Amino acid sequence: SPVKVTKICCIGAGYVGGPTCAVVALKCPHITVTIVDLNQSRIDAWNSPDFKLPIYEPGLEDVVRQTRGRNLFFSTDVDKGIEEADLIFVSVNTPTKKSGIGAGFAADLNYVELATRRIADVAKSSKIVVEKSTVPCRTADAMRTILDANSKPNCRFDILSNPEFLAEGTAINDLLKPDRVLIGSLQTPQGIDACNSLASIYANWVPKDRILTVGLWSSELSKLAANAMLAQRISSVNALSAICEATGANIDEVAHAIGFDSRIGPKFLKASVGFGGSCFQKDILNLVYLSESCHLPEVAAYWRQVVEMNDYQKRRFSTRVVDTLFKTITGKRIAVLGFAFKADTGDTRESAAITLIRDFQQEKALINIYDPQVPHEQIWADLAEASPDIPLAATQKQVTICASAIEACKNAEAVVIATEWKEFCDIDWESVYAHMKKPAFIFDGRIIVDADRLRKIGFKVTVIGRAE
Ligand code: NAD
Ligand code: UGA
Repeated sequence: SPVKVTKICCIGAGYVGGPTCAVVALKCPHITVTIVDLNQSRIDAWNSPDFKLPIYEPGLEDVVRQTRGRNLFFSTDVDKGIEEADLIFVSVNTPTKKSGIGAGFAADLNYVELATRRIADVAKSSKIVVEKSTVPCRTADAMRTILDANSKPNCRFDILSNPEFLAEGTAINDLLKPDRVLIGSLQTPQGIDACNSLASIYANWVPKDRILTVGLWSSELSKLAANAMLAQRISSVNALSAICEATGANIDEVAHAIGFDSRIGPKFLKASVGFGGSCFQKDILNLVYLSESCHLPEVAAYWRQVVEMNDYQKRRFSTRVVDTLFKTITGKRIAVLGFAFKADTGDTRESAAITLIRDFQQEKALINIYDPQVPHEQIWADLAEASPDIPLAATQKQVTICASAIEACKNAEAVVIATEWKEFCDIDWESVYAHMKKPAFIFDGRIIVDADRLRKIGFKVTVIGRAE
């Protein structure tokens, strides 16, 4: 019969482990939740007395204030966390492999394997082990083999897949009111019991008809599939944005028109400078690798095109900036507004802004950057990684990080909107115009400005998916 879980351990205190388990603790006061991580400074930030948490996520601080010290704990004592728990979420990072077999496509499963081996080594009682990280199809099989081969007598491990669908910037709301919770298990009596144990945790706040239970491999593949389909929508709309720019159609009008078809739906049809974030590209490349491993080259090529279209969109945008500024931006000052990969997060992983700024640096422009959340050290680290041939000192001569949008735009020849921060909708554009070089250009990579109003002020405005 299903185990009644009273102690949960989450391995990995990142963007997923932190918010997810904080919400579990909030909704399940009868369960003790301990989030462990090897990264001391991350854990210190989660424990910081003034709640300077390691990630910025609207509503997160409030949840942590209510639960920390009550039934939510953060620790670097991974072994103790594992030993005490009935159920363990594995929520470690699974980045794209940088070298070796499958480099550039396959997921690096080293962190998942290390966490799994740690569980096998230190567990003295039976555990339910939950794959929360996004992993290739059949990873649970490998985890089971490792656990079974290393476990002590009287320890049994049940493995579940429970992928996370939260989006950054709306994580707390997504967790409180998920479209669905997906749990995959082996269809054996023990597998189904473990599945019911986890389902009963979510049932504390998620309606039963939104808790979907499926086989392990379907669950693992559904996560890759969901991200691939979401990213595909963006690449589709971005591909159409290029046609709009060439023909005089307007991508926002086209998206609105097609989104009215209830089979298509209005969400996730916003043309942009390209999708970013730690997962879309990684998970699609993972799916491409999986397809190739299954000897399905046509399927691999199909999904690969979603990422290629995204690269093209970013390249196309920076080319349009250079072309519009009379084919040279050498020595010209460009203000880049926004550095995070989307609004309401401080996360910069795979942010389109990084690629744009790298392109502008190669054209020898001077760049001012403003983002309301991204720490300055993070910006320098991302720029250094994007242009490994340029010494940091040279980058710091070419790039200035500014304290406000207004300051970033001062004396600039062009403003580039890279992230859709709400505060960029409320900028005092008259004042910006007064302090810019003329002609003053705006490039809206997020379709957030009122182009007609800005043109009346005197700006030359270029918007994604519009001819002018
Ligand atoms: P992250 O890098 O923010 O966090 C992972 C954490 O795991 C790090 O703090 C790292 O120190 C820790 N860690 C790694 N190995 C460890 C070990 N052996 N023991 C203890 N701690 C260890 O990553 P994330 O963004 O939280 O993503 C985690 C997983 O969730 C990934 O597989 C990702 O694809 C998936 N996912 C992410 C999102 C998202 O929005 N970021 C959404 C859904 C799913
Ligand atoms: C995405 C998915 O939405 C989540 O369901 C999933 O759990 C997560 O990936 C993950 O697996 O990591 P996230 O990357 O946090 O979430 O944020 P999204 O809102 O999906 O945005 C991704 C990127 O697409 C951003 O750069 C965003 O600006 C861009 N985007 C999104 C568009 O350009 N147009 C749109 O219409 C929507």
